[in-house]
Amino acid sequence: MTDAAIETIATPDFDRYPCDVELVGAVLESATTIAVTWSDERVDRHHPWTLRENATDPGTTSQLTRERVVDIADWGDDVAATTVGTTGGWLTIRWAPDGLSARYEPGWLRHLGGRDWHPAAIRPAARTWDATAGEPPTFDGRAYLSDDDVLADALHTLGSHGLVRLRDLPDADDTVLAVGRRIGVVRPTHFGPDFDVVARADADSQAYTGARLGPHTDIPTRELPAGLQLLHCRTNTVGGGESLMVDGFAVAEHVREHDPDVFDALTRLRWVWANRSTETDVRWSAPVVGLDGDRIDEIRIANTLRLFPDMPHADVDRGYRAIRRFVQLADSERFRITFPFRPGDCVVFDNRRVLHGREAFEPGGGERHLRGCYVDRDDLFSRLRIHRRGRRAASGRDRTP
Ligand code: OGA
Ligand code: ZN
Repeated sequence: MTDAAIETIATPDFDRYPCDVELVGAVLESATTIAVTWSDERVDRHHPWTLRENATDPGTTSQLTRERVVDIADWGDDVAATTVGTTGGWLTIRWAPDGLSARYEPGWLRHLGGRDWHPAAIRPAARTWDATAGEPPTFDGRAYLSDDDVLADALHTLGSHGLVRLRDLPDADDTVLAVGRRIGVVRPTHFGPDFDVVARADADSQAYTGARLGPHTDIPTRELPAGLQLLHCRTNTVGGGESLMVDGFAVAEHVREHDPDVFDALTRLRWVWANRSTETDVRWSAPVVGLDGDRIDEIRIANTLRLFPDMPHADVDRGYRAIRRFVQLADSERFRITFPFRPGDCVVFDNRRVLHGREAFEPGGGERHLRGCYVDRDDLFSRLRIHRRGRRAASGRDRTP
């Protein structure tokens, strides 16, 4: 039983953990605390059960799926660490009542104490921008499609700036889907798997006319609006129709700093967002600014899709004034960037952060055709983790076989 554990997988997952520091000590401080000490003097404290349920033996972790097969619901109160130490730089623990002797790979153990497993750990810090940004950060589209390192660079920038532009992409119907699939799963919506933005006589949305579209986010009408939006320019021979982009997080931060009462109204007072269509009636109730703790996490705004104030009558005046202030700022010279679409361009942006829109154009004056699709934020972060995993494996620096 004990030796079998040594032959098992090294970590209870498929990841890789290069580790530049050494595990120098481990002690059972109390029944609920195992303390491990590193050569850089960091000390991590773990509840023994966290280590017990993440042991790599087959009775705890499937050697095939690497998912947990043990279940704490089946445990008694007597599951406990009896002996804690280190062997060859790995943590070793003997467990009661089953006598299992488990070893913990140091890189994995380091990541556990460093909270590198947290979803937020891969997320590039938001670097907010205003009109002085000028143009979107730009990457070569064909390199993005074929080179994983260019893809990762572009996706890191997308994570931090909320916006990238790819240039000189192939002029094909499925290019936008190929760009999306480099990130992850393309998310269908009531517009289909992908959609065309062209002016047409039977328009059921202002998007399908030549009208100006003020800065907005798409599908705020859904419980979870798409995290990423892609717009690929196929043709553009019209005058006007330039793209508008605004960092909604920058606007919200500005409001938080200069007008806390407006910020409070934007985060608390709800609106119903609804689409008008002959085929669907999608609607959801949510405030303009969504917070994750104190961090601004999402923006919902679209003049054409905002239905009615979903708040007590006594708050409605405050609600209207707050949303007006937000939109005035978003659509101002201070925050808005404007740039032309060139055929072969594809903008990829965080649809719950970056507001987009366009200047008006004359539909009869030429042809303007964009093709778009959506992907979710979690697919972006998954792609970045998988890219990192590949780099770690290639570096040969991790101890994971
Ligand atoms: C849209 C949209 C942008 C554009 O269709 O929702 O924002 O440039 N289109 O036409
Ligand atoms: Zn839009």
